[in-house]
Amino acid sequence: MMPSVASCLLAAAAAAWSLASTTTASSDNDTDTLVTQQIDNHPYPYDFPQLGANGTDIFPMRLCNGFKLEEASIDEIQVELKSGKLTGVQLLECYFERIYQLQPYLNAVLQYNPDAMEIAKVLDEERQRGIVRGPLHGIPFLVKDNIASKDKMETTAGSWALVGSVVPRDAHVVYRLRQAGAVLLGKAALSEWADMRSNDYSEGYSGRGGQCRNPYNFTVNPGGSSSGSGVAVTSNQVPFALGTETDGSVINPAERSAVVGIKPTVGLTSRAGVIPESTHQDSVGCFGKTVRDATYVLDAIYGIDPRDNYTFAQEGKPPRGGYTQFITKKSVLKGAVFGLPWLSFWQYNDPTQNAQLVELLDLIRSAGATIINGTELLSYKDIVDPQGWNWDYGTQRGYPNESEYTYVKVDFYNNINSYLAELNNTNMRSLEDLVQYNIDNVGSEGGLPGVNPAFASGQDGFLASLATKGIMNETYWQALSYCQRTSREDGIDAALHSNGHNLTALLVPPDFGPTYQIAAQAGYPVITLPAGTNKESKMPYGLALMGTAFSEATLIKYASAIEDLQVSSNTPWKRTLPTWSGYLDRNIPLINA
Ligand SMILES: *[C@@H]1O[C@H](CO)[C@@H](O)[C@H](O)[C@H]1NC(C)=O
Ligand SMILES: *[C@@H]1O[C@H](CO)[C@@H](O)[C@H](O)[C@H]1NC(C)=O
Ligand SMILES: *[C@@H]1O[C@H](CO)[C@@H](O)[C@H](O)[C@H]1NC(C)=O
Ligand SMILES: *[C@@H]1O[C@H](CO)[C@@H](O)[C@H](O)[C@H]1NC(C)=O
Ligand SMILES: *[C@@H]1O[C@H](CO)[C@@H](O)[C@H](O)[C@H]1NC(C)=O
Ligand SMILES: *[C@@H]1O[C@H](CO)[C@@H](O)[C@H](O)[C@H]1NC(C)=O
Ligand SMILES: *[C@@H]1O[C@H](CO)[C@@H](O)[C@H](O)[C@H]1NC(C)=O
Ligand SMILES: *[C@@H]1O[C@H](CO)[C@@H](O)[C@H](O)[C@H]1NC(C)=O
Ligand SMILES: *[C@@H]1O[C@H](CO)[C@@H](O)[C@H](O)[C@H]1NC(C)=O
Repeated sequence: MMPSVASCLLAAAAAAWSLASTTTASSDNDTDTLVTQQIDNHPYPYDFPQLGANGTDIFPMRLCNGFKLEEASIDEIQVELKSGKLTGVQLLECYFERIYQLQPYLNAVLQYNPDAMEIAKVLDEERQRGIVRGPLHGIPFLVKDNIASKDKMETTAGSWALVGSVVPRDAHVVYRLRQAGAVLLGKAALSEWADMRSNDYSEGYSGRGGQCRNPYNFTVNPGGSSSGSGVAVTSNQVPFALGTETDGSVINPAERSAVVGIKPTVGLTSRAGVIPESTHQDSVGCFGKTVRDATYVLDAIYGIDPRDNYTFAQEGKPPRGGYTQFITKKSVLKGAVFGLPWLSFWQYNDPTQNAQLVELLDLIRSAGATIINGTELLSYKDIVDPQGWNWDYGTQRGYPNESEYTYVKVDFYNNINSYLAELNNTNMRSLEDLVQYNIDNVGSEGGLPGVNPAFASGQDGFLASLATKGIMNETYWQALSYCQRTSREDGIDAALHSNGHNLTALLVPPDFGPTYQIAAQAGYPVITLPAGTNKESKMPYGLALMGTAFSEATLIKYASAIEDLQVSSNTPWKRTLPTWSGYLDRNIPLINA
């Protein structure tokens, strides 16, 4: 056996080197131990997936210094760290080892932080001196590659166009996680430019990162655009990750990866240092295996940041002491009153999935909650496309002045130029430059339709934005105010108060995209919980809680209560481990199923 691969930071190099050795080494009776210890004569089951294996056995996770790290919660990891049975450095090595095992298959990591070991070491030393910064001390994490880190790593939104660019500073959220003692392990794969660039594309693909795949089914859309964040957490490559959302990019990959996703109210988490899409809707969100894990992350990153004036809106809103105190048990479901906007969303969701979700709703009811059917958004007929997610539905109805895409296109043109203006060491200064780059590098960046199978429509999203020249005209303002009104007071708030009720939250099926889409337009929070898997595709789906602006404390409270109910009741409608279905499949584009 070769020594622990994890002790080597240069993963790719190490892997290539040991494979090369394997092909020339021929016998068990070599006596040069330098050579023999590099030979892997026991490839199964940890280093190679064995043909014919199935289920979780395909990619088992090694014990970490005797500790079962797979599926361990952040609290459970902290117990090990506190007892001294595991150091932060060892923990990081175990996660690197897991990443090396899975990277050729899932491709969820875009880049490793070469300083991660050093950071973990410093945090171990702090702990030895009695300093523990909080629940994330020594815990490794990934951030989506559109979140700036002022270190040795690139920040590129998955595009070759930004390779080499030097960011001015850490994104606020990254800075805050460093302060909380978390260990930035690397950058997570994503759909390039967070899906702003194209309207017909392979989800989870980027020119720089290639195709990220979902461990429940390798041939279908893994969820995006924070694909790597969801995939890495569900496959135990990191305990938590950050993603970003403009319209679904946290909730969608979280629910398709059977993890908890928190998309906060726009303005609760600073977007400063995040490659933008729309200032009106962008939000940084959290991925964890449990509500508690994800909430630890939210507590570390929320707050006012002078560099993002949307964060001033939270003044006085977050509960004193943060959100973790709201994590609770199923008993609080007694007295909760949830609403089901059935006609608005549920009626359009997959019926087989609905039948399973209704069993989960029955369970929630049996725990003492009241669930009121028919709590609708007043405007659902105009704003919800029965076919599914569609951010240009207004235009398709004949009203560009009532379409989300109308203002997102304009915002992107302006917001990306502001982001680029702060970069050093790049020739990319405008959306025009990015469009030209994608044409000049068409083979890898698919700047023209039909060249790169992952970007079937080329860069039509960029071109649509370019055509607006960022002009905020009458149509823009009408569309913005229409989408905000119909999703807020005539939308989610109306549903929360339908028939004079004061609902605790709305329960919705996030696999039907318009759920998180309407919350995105409103800038309102969503939490998704794993809720089961689809029999045919093997793909997970979630149950989501929606509420009004800055209602995170309520959503976290009831999401954790439902999660407790799921775990304690033995229901099948909860988080399950990856099944690795089709793990040798590599076709692009992925199918939307
Ligand atoms: C093992 O060593 C013996 C003695 O040196 C040699 O004859 C034999 O060919 C070796 N076997 C292999 C498979 O290399
Ligand atoms: C997985 O393999 C085991 C042992 O070979 C077998 O008993 C089981 O039925 C298989 N499960 C599936 C889902 O194929
Ligand atoms: C860019 O580089 C210049 C010269 O080194 C420096 O003064 C400036 O602060 C840098 N700007 C950013 C945004 O890092
Ligand atoms: C934030 O600042 C920009 C530019 O100064 C301004 O146009 C915008 O209205 C401000 N937004 C908020 C929410 O304060
Ligand atoms: C909710 O009401 C609709 C009719 O509006 C009905 O079709 C659906 O089955 C109901 N759902 C539940 C969970 O009761
Ligand atoms: C506003 O600009 C868009 C292009 O971005 C254009 O389609 C629309 O007609 C313009 N509206 C007005 C009122 O000029
Ligand atoms: C959009 O334009 C149509 C006319 O084409 C108008 O009837 C409608 O009221 C406008 N919508 C908004 C939100 O202003
Ligand atoms: C809902 O809340 C409002 C304002 O707090 C209150 O006036 C009303 O009585 C409440 N309705 C119900 C059904 O509890
Ligand atoms: C992946 O999902 C597709 C679409 O539902 C399905 O046809 C296919 O059988 C699934 N793949 C595997 C290996 O289960």
